[in-house]
Amino acid sequence: MDKTSVTDTIDTIKETVEQETSRGFSTRWPLNSAFIFTFGALGGMLFGFDTGIISGASPLIESDFGLSVSQTGFITSSVLIGSCVGALSIGALSDRFGRKKLLIVSAILFLLGSGLCATATGFLMMVAARIILGLAVGAASALTPAYLAELAPKERRGSLSTLFQLMITFGILLAYASNLGFLNHNLLGVRDWRWMLGSALVPAALLLIGGIMLPESPRYLVNKGDIRNAFKVLTLIRKDVDQAQVQLELDEIKEVAAQDTKGGVRELFRIARPALLAAVGIMLFQQLVGINSVIYFLPQVFIKGFGFPEGDAIWVSVGIGVVNFVSTIVATLIMDKFPRKKLLIFGSVVMTVSLAILAVMNFVGDVSVLAVPTMILIAFYILGFAVSWGPIAWVLIGEIFPLSVRGIGSSFGSAANWLGNFIVSQFFLMLLDAFGNNVGGPFAIFGVFALLSIPFVLRFVPETKGKSLEEIEEEMTRR
Ligand code: BGC
Repeated sequence: MDKTSVTDTIDTIKETVEQETSRGFSTRWPLNSAFIFTFGALGGMLFGFDTGIISGASPLIESDFGLSVSQTGFITSSVLIGSCVGALSIGALSDRFGRKKLLIVSAILFLLGSGLCATATGFLMMVAARIILGLAVGAASALTPAYLAELAPKERRGSLSTLFQLMITFGILLAYASNLGFLNHNLLGVRDWRWMLGSALVPAALLLIGGIMLPESPRYLVNKGDIRNAFKVLTLIRKDVDQAQVQLELDEIKEVAAQDTKGGVRELFRIARPALLAAVGIMLFQQLVGINSVIYFLPQVFIKGFGFPEGDAIWVSVGIGVVNFVSTIVATLIMDKFPRKKLLIFGSVVMTVSLAILAVMNFVGDVSVLAVPTMILIAFYILGFAVSWGPIAWVLIGEIFPLSVRGIGSSFGSAANWLGNFIVSQFFLMLLDAFGNNVGGPFAIFGVFALLSIPFVLRFVPETKGKSLEEIEEEMTRR
């Protein structure tokens, strides 16, 4: 074989590998859309699991490694720092290299982080491992909403994108279950907390397999000029419509992509300011209403505020985890039936009212008899969050950015979420302490944010239900 034919052969192989990785195995091995959306949303499960697991594992790690309280606190929050960085850095890369490749990268980071966490030998290694996990969680939280929104048909985009939140809540529930299941069981001579943290390897491996099999987003492919594969992927995921309709959808995507600019941070600030403001605001409010004071710290609230023994307090959080998960199932059923803004306002009202009653009750009432009413009000508050702000915040960041800056826009939105999360997690226990362990104090502050979120939604958030991503893009550009 002469030199030129060898180079030609190598070029052909390279081209084939490029095509295969960009369109995914699914165009050859037909997968059904349930598989695609479930595996596409799997990053959410790891997000929920890795943020939820530490509530049970941290006291055990603290005593095993002989850590101070602030070191333990840092182990908890280091994942949030990593997430913020992961979310910010992934967007530009996903606009450049595609959603699919970076999902695979984040699965590898999940595997690495979980493995290192489970085998950590001391404080520093644990912090490093949690930061790597955070990078993965942040990356998945910025990638997945855009990926799901770009695959879904417009009539079902709300419900299908809500799968991400459903997976988050399922991951949280699994984490609570794993905390309970492994506690005090040092199987095969390995400490219980190592099993808790190591069990994340299973969903991480599933995400990796899923990532390899999933198709690339058709919108990303169009943006890169790969129309042939975009058509193939669209045909695969729109089995219920005919080829003419698929062609119509493709034409619409092509038309909008043709008008799109290059992308990048400067473009994001130039062409997508209203979307950016809506995304960052919605993500900050999603955290400042205090959801993670409940998800991460509920056992502590009941131990410190109402004198519960530790074992009972963990069961309270399992109960709340179930309410959260079941309410999110309801959210997937109603997401495409009601306008997103109405649902957000409904959620804000439910949260404001339950937090206000809870706060007043705990300030004026006799705290010793208020544990059960507080629990019930927290359940209402969770329900309000789970059918509205929980899913919709993530659905919206996948929808409202123009295609050319969708990855990077989602990154900014997601990073804002992690920043808000970090602030609440860092200060909640201090706030509780400042109010003499009266839960009314911090929850009153969260109630004020829930109230303020209403004018924010009315003024800055666009309605996206039932519109194609291209219609939303035109509307946002007009703004
Ligand atoms: C939030 C998480 C939270 C979870 C609770 C998500 O939408 O972003 O911070 O822990 O909901 O279900």
